[in-house]
Amino acid sequence: MPSEYSTNKTAKPIPLIALDDLTVGETKGIEIKLGDDAIKFGDKEPKRLDLIIWHQGNEIRVFKNSCPHVGLPLETFPDRFLTADKKYLICSAHAATFNHEGVCIAGPCPGKSLIEYKTTTLDGWLMLG
Ligand code: FES
Repeated sequence: MPSEYSTNKTAKPIPLIALDDLTVGETKGIEIKLGDDAIKFGDKEPKRLDLIIWHQGNEIRVFKNSCPHVGLPLETFPDRFLTADKKYLICSAHAATFNHEGVCIAGPCPGKSLIEYKTTTLDGWLMLG
């Protein structure tokens, strides 16, 4: 599984969004600002993370909003990351298409993956970490 996990086990999970604000089968874009916890997530720009949240029904996956083709954000319009049939993520730049695990299955970067982040839930919130 593609990931950007940390070796820093002491950082606390970061609240991302209330679960009530997510819709089954839909995606949501979110940008979070990070403090010292940034090191935990290993981002090259450690003060912010641009994320895609995909509520797939039986699970919620969170990916870094950066296409493995050339690193652009996937969406043109806010929260619009899915194909018309809502089965896959699609990059609006050159149509790279990603399955539920974030692996490119069509387009210019087959086999490459979006970076996925580990999440948990706590008191009705989706938490990063
Ligand atoms: S940047 Fe996403 S397909 Fe080219």
